[in-house]
Amino acid sequence: MTQDELKQAVGRAAADYVAAHAPAGSVIGVGTGSTANCFIDALAPIGSRYRGAVASSEATRARLERHGIPVLDLNDVDTIPVYVDGADEIDGGLNMIKGGGGALTREKIVAAVATTFVCICDASKRVEVMGRFPLPVEVIPMARAHVARELASLGGTPVLRAGFVTDNGNQILDVHGLAITDPKGLEARINQITGVVTNGLFAMRPADVLLLGTDTGVRTFS
Ligand code: 5RP
Repeated sequence: MTQDELKQAVGRAAADYVAAHAPAGSVIGVGTGSTANCFIDALAPIGSRYRGAVASSEATRARLERHGIPVLDLNDVDTIPVYVDGADEIDGGLNMIKGGGGALTREKIVAAVATTFVCICDASKRVEVMGRFPLPVEVIPMARAHVARELASLGGTPVLRAGFVTDNGNQILDVHGLAITDPKGLEARINQITGVVTNGLFAMRPADVLLLGTDTGVRTFS
């Protein structure tokens, strides 16, 4: 199977998961990226069962609305039974690196509200130790140089994502060369740097379920 076919397979599996686990009338959390897009397309036929969705980015909002799925403000939503999103890397503890699409902060906020975080990805994203994929860090623009120096002191090589502005009006530093052996500790450490909005490690709030697309079918881990 091609990578695109694997993404479509996990997108469909996630829609099945939502149909089985999210009560009718509830609000679905929807992530960002090419795999999340496959989920949105698979969700569309059953979208009317739900009150609507909370989107983790403006791109996702637009795609949901094109499918006729109402998009709600998170401040008007108390509970999200299921949040479905992709990842750039995921380890055996279901810790993730996210933010390749730059939506990490809103993704982390939606994940914080969600009861169950369902990660969907193809088998290439599954790793033993995270860090080969550069870790995205969203920064307030005036703090960029300061944050970059602090990240370098942690052993990484931060690179500004050129020409990119997040949905929140900020910039992204992609940190190369980190071997992430203590995901929770590193997540907390980077978030303490003044000027960091958030970083793309999802270890304090990892996924609860992984639907992994493989050549032999979609495998479920929890
Ligand atoms: C966006 C993300 C995405 O989930 C992540 O980058 C994976 O994207 P894709 O499914 O396109 O590989 O975190 O900020």
